[in-house]
Amino acid sequence: MIVLFIIIVVVLLFCLMAFFGAPYLPSNNAEIRKAFRNLYKISGKDLLIDLGSGDGRVLKIASDFGAKSVGIELNPILALFSNLRLRKNKNAKTICKNYNSYDFPADATVVYVFGDSRDIEKIVSYIEKQATKIGHPLYLISHAFTTEKYKPEKKYRAYYLYKIKGEDEK
Ligand SMILES: C[S@@+](CC[C@H](N)C(=O)[O-])C[C@H]1O[C@@H](n2cnc3c(N)ncnc32)[C@H](O)[C@@H]1O
Repeated sequence: MIVLFIIIVVVLLFCLMAFFGAPYLPSNNAEIRKAFRNLYKISGKDLLIDLGSGDGRVLKIASDFGAKSVGIELNPILALFSNLRLRKNKNAKTICKNYNSYDFPADATVVYVFGDSRDIEKIVSYIEKQATKIGHPLYLISHAFTTEKYKPEKKYRAYYLYKIKGEDEK
């Protein structure tokens, strides 16, 4: 009975997430690695933020390339799983919250998003505000979705690279 209750709660939680943004659908590990090699060469100089970080795989791979990373994940089960997975990793962590209310750290350089078509323009505006606040542009790696507002700097398979500028740089 308890197991059934837990299963129902978990299923409801995952369904509920669809109201807040993209549902959980993990990026392919090999494709993330290729994007970090061919689209945006991530390195130890970077701090990557994954908006909607799921099970933390993007964070883990970014840290394999030497970068620091922060994941923002609304689903507490995924955030917990991600933090357990990254527990021995000093350079990566997940915060359980809505990404619309997360203030980027000043040393953020690149944002990874695998969102959905409903949200991409809102996410781009949000990143613009964060770029204004921290005073430098941010690279956006968007998996699968394009924005009308910017021309991609580069495209690699299903990934698009944008340079998102703050108000002062436009
Ligand atoms: C398509 S999955 C991508 C997961 C991961 N970035 C990857 O590429 O493997 C989107 C994730 O965003 C999370 N999410 C959706 N809306 C969110 C919001 N408003 N704030 C934080 N996370 C959100 C979902 O729970 C889901 O785990």
